[in-house]
Amino acid sequence: MGGGVTMHPSHEPLIAQAKEVAARAYAPASGFAVGAALLARDGRVFLGCNVENSSYGLTSCAERNALCHAVAEGAREFEAIAIYTPREKPGSPCGACRQVLAEFAMDLRVILVGSGGAVVRRNKFEECGGT
Ligand code: THU
Repeated sequence: MGGGVTMHPSHEPLIAQAKEVAARAYAPASGFAVGAALLARDGRVFLGCNVENSSYGLTSCAERNALCHAVAEGAREFEAIAIYTPREKPGSPCGACRQVLAEFAMDLRVILVGSGGAVVRRNKFEECGGT
């Protein structure tokens, strides 16, 4: 993902919500609880956590669940997403999630949050195969 975006105090509420929803993750297989908070252009925030399944391939990531939640509520335009992963150096969205986010936001501010802090990327989904 591309860099070059500075962390800003206004990102803090989104970061806090991503951490909070991670506590509700259903992750019996991996124990890896992820939370995502997706900010729509109209100011609403939609949350998602990962929901695993005993058939592991049916697992749905936090980012995709936040996006599906948003669409169900009528939001289709997005500014930013904060993603909390429970490790020191934050992880970044998998290819499937990038593709799903790219369907609605080709240029999204992505705030990657770990236990050691947060970094911001401006994601150009063109680079990830979006249309
Ligand atoms: N996971 C997410 O929800 N989002 C990510 O960005 C990374 C991975 C989930 C999927 C699975 O439930 C667990 O984390 C381990 O990969």
